[in-house]
Amino acid sequence: MTDITHDRLLIIDFGSQVTQLIARRLRELNVFCEIHPFNTVDDAFLKDFDPKAVIFSGGPSSVFAVGAPMPPQSVFDLGVPILGICYGQQVMMHCLGGKVERGHGTAEFGRAFVAPTKDKLELLEGWFLTEKEQVWMSHGDHVSKIAPGFEVYGTSPNAPFAITGDASRNFFAVQFHPEVHHTPNGARLYENFVRLAGFKGDWTMHAYREEAIAAIRAQVGDAKVICGLSGGVDSSVAAVLIHEAIGDQLTCVFVDHGLLRKGEAEEVVTMFRDNYNMPLIHADEQELFLGELDGVSDPETKRKIIGRLFIDVFQKHAIAVGDAKFLAQGTLYPDVIESVSFSGGPSVTIKSHHNVGGLPEKMGLQLVEPLRELFKDEVRALGRELGLPASFIGRHPFPGPGLAIRCPGEITREKLAILREADAVYIDQIRKHGLYDDIWQAFVAILPVRTVGVMGDGRTYDFACALRAVNSVDGMTADYYPFTHEFLGETATRIINEVPGINRVTYDITSKPPGTIEWE
Ligand code: XMP
Repeated sequence: MTDITHDRLLIIDFGSQVTQLIARRLRELNVFCEIHPFNTVDDAFLKDFDPKAVIFSGGPSSVFAVGAPMPPQSVFDLGVPILGICYGQQVMMHCLGGKVERGHGTAEFGRAFVAPTKDKLELLEGWFLTEKEQVWMSHGDHVSKIAPGFEVYGTSPNAPFAITGDASRNFFAVQFHPEVHHTPNGARLYENFVRLAGFKGDWTMHAYREEAIAAIRAQVGDAKVICGLSGGVDSSVAAVLIHEAIGDQLTCVFVDHGLLRKGEAEEVVTMFRDNYNMPLIHADEQELFLGELDGVSDPETKRKIIGRLFIDVFQKHAIAVGDAKFLAQGTLYPDVIESVSFSGGPSVTIKSHHNVGGLPEKMGLQLVEPLRELFKDEVRALGRELGLPASFIGRHPFPGPGLAIRCPGEITREKLAILREADAVYIDQIRKHGLYDDIWQAFVAILPVRTVGVMGDGRTYDFACALRAVNSVDGMTADYYPFTHEFLGETATRIINEVPGINRVTYDITSKPPGTIEWE
């Protein structure tokens, strides 16, 4: 648990696919919340967490199942508002003396419309904008008798108890999912819920910055911290925040493996060393990496070599820092949320998320992860709060193995040099057309093939390259970016004219799946 001093809202996770969205909606309201799996929430946990309100998430289970997920009964004695969603509603009714029935023909999935039955429930203030409000349902079982003290405030054709509430205790339970996009007015329910629970909405990035700095100081004391800095958003924000907290106790290590883009090393080093006055080791290891990659063309072998060398180099420089006790990482909240695993029994799956895999154990380092409460867009907001330039905050993702996986086949210095130039022209074009922030990721791959061309009166025999630009939410799926033909034509002409070594440009229109974003 964190040292956050704000009022906290507890989300008890019963395994819904959309539990994270509840947290998003609440964070948008400047309310601090944490998601905890139902099987980690017991009386002692509740006492320690001291929530100002509780939300029960949905979930795939049935209250009739043997060992069905339940909250501790003591949650109802805390005297704080509770909102149950979908399975969370059924759990609430089950625990408080109502009745739940199996689906049998009344299951409801997808869009539904809820009509009001009574007015004057604070939770619903300003909610019924029309006679029937659109909501998103996804349930098999349903409540057939509400618990004593509850009233019905909204019904849908298949959910007579779509909205229920006990205003005297501030207990509310809805059958639908207000957190999803398809419940268009859903955010209003959360807004009303947190208002009546008394949240001040003071979870701001300014407050977070102050608290995170205090927490880092308390954790680290006067020990030394090392941080692998890639120049990406997460590691950059983490480094600036930690530097603000402990100054020169922090040393960053920037590994230049010779696979960076044009001007990238200078940009990162200047920014952190010169502008932020941060102790930064610029580990120029180009010879080492490119030497070991010489003659290697298999993608997995390339990745393995780079991963191994990165750890060796980082460790070498980390030792040089002298008895560092901590390793800083830019781990984000989605990486640390424990999600309830129903297929795997009562156990909980936690994603492993070591950016510098294996090092903490090898070197006996403890982790400092000041972003582990934050979602990606919140990290960007924190970066702005810390004064990081917009050009750093909005950067497209760049993979750890760098240009190695954008250079299919053998990697040579000649190909890397050509690739750097072509990529710089392409990104310049994208920026000039004001498209950079619209695109999730864009880059050039140099192809392991030479083609014949004609320039002026002469024959050319140069490399072909592929432009790639995709839109994506999380990198898991992606679609190609629909540039205009004019843009593509102009860019191809510029690359061929300005980059010696390339005489043919193609545009990659493969989506993911079946392709991947990178070429290797
Ligand atoms: P793929 O190519 O798998 O990439 O569709 C999805 C996203 O992940 C990035 N990527 C990496 N990032 N280390 C990283 O830090 C890696 O080894 C790596 N491989 C791919 C890729 O750039 C895209 O954003």
